[in-house]
Amino acid sequence: MVTSGLEDIVAASSAICDVNGKEGRLIYQGYDIHDLAEHSTFEEVVYLLWFGRLPTKTELEKISKELRVNRALPSQVISTMKVFPKDADPMEVLRTATSMLSFYDPDDRDNGREANIRKATRLVAQLPTIVAAWDNIRNGREAISPKEDLSTAANFIYMLTGKAPDEVATKSLDIALILHADHELNASTFAARVAAATLTDIHSATVAAIGALKGPLHGGANQEVIKMLLQIDKPENVDAFVHKMFDEHQKIMGFGHRVYKTEDPRAHHLRKMSEELGKRKGEPKWFDMSRQIEDIVLKEKHLNANVDFYSASVYYMLDIPIDLFTPIFAISRMSGWAAHILEQYSNNRLIRPRAEYTGPRNLKYVPVDQR
Ligand code: COA
Repeated sequence: MVTSGLEDIVAASSAICDVNGKEGRLIYQGYDIHDLAEHSTFEEVVYLLWFGRLPTKTELEKISKELRVNRALPSQVISTMKVFPKDADPMEVLRTATSMLSFYDPDDRDNGREANIRKATRLVAQLPTIVAAWDNIRNGREAISPKEDLSTAANFIYMLTGKAPDEVATKSLDIALILHADHELNASTFAARVAAATLTDIHSATVAAIGALKGPLHGGANQEVIKMLLQIDKPENVDAFVHKMFDEHQKIMGFGHRVYKTEDPRAHHLRKMSEELGKRKGEPKWFDMSRQIEDIVLKEKHLNANVDFYSASVYYMLDIPIDLFTPIFAISRMSGWAAHILEQYSNNRLIRPRAEYTGPRNLKYVPVDQR
């Protein structure tokens, strides 16, 4: 029997991430996401996802340093990006530039575990540089070189704006990176594992994942949420707007989830951040409108907000260009993709399911001039 969209099918064993849809809990390697969002850092979470435990101080310093010193892009990647169409979608740029990185990676031909950890480290370090460089290049500016003394979150804001980021912005982005780092067999991670299971290289598996994340039913949803909020524009327009969408049987982006049947635990933190950042910026209306939409959709459709709903207003309040919202999801999820790719390699079997054939049978070939 075919299960539509592989719903509830267990397709892999994994020790990386546990999503409990009934209780609304998310666990990375045994640690609750609420604990990590409150106390950890993105760099520490990268270590946790890859090595299965929290790092010691020395181990954390080592991985943080590796992530800092590997941020620069090969000059060939930057010069190729300069000839991309200036209106190219940043996710397509990220997909293409990530693919190019493999040409210049010193471990490109080595598929051993140590080489793959080095490649994974470079990918987590380099993806933010691609995203920020593209925003500068498309606006006619030179790409800003990464700084080695900043965290992943702070350096990303610096490369994007050219200014030293403030503490609130850095902390908010760091939490967002922690929250998006992994999510079990979501569509892009599954795509990465399917590719890795052919024993292709980590860059190829990552490119498959970026392609899957781009879609509006997955990572692309956060951009659609802010476009909706901008269209609604004023809190007094929310009710009519949402009901019109219901009448037209349109999906409200940022709601619903295949696994969570209760609140997505990541939404809790992003909701709080959206409110605080809105107040700080003197623009509380985005949060107010979001809360109103959330109430209506929950009450009338019994759908909860997911990770993408409040991340939209969070990134907007951080002055991040709208079409970079999904690429930011990607720079965080790179850590989870890498964890799953490494896990797949460590106990691999080709992933090759079957399809139920529903086409015609026993047709006789008719030559083209007789059709
Ligand atoms: N707005 C309105 N209705 C929604 C909805 C939404 N965001 N999400 C699901 N529904 C409805 C569907 O229309 C469907 O109703 P029906 O049975 O009357 O046709 C029902 O809920 C089941 O939806 P379905 O799309 O089959 O669920 P799924 O498990 O395949 O999809 C998502 C999960 C996340 C793809 C889906 O909820 C969605 O498209 N959400 C919006 C996109 C989004 O926010 N994606 C980010 C996910 S983290």
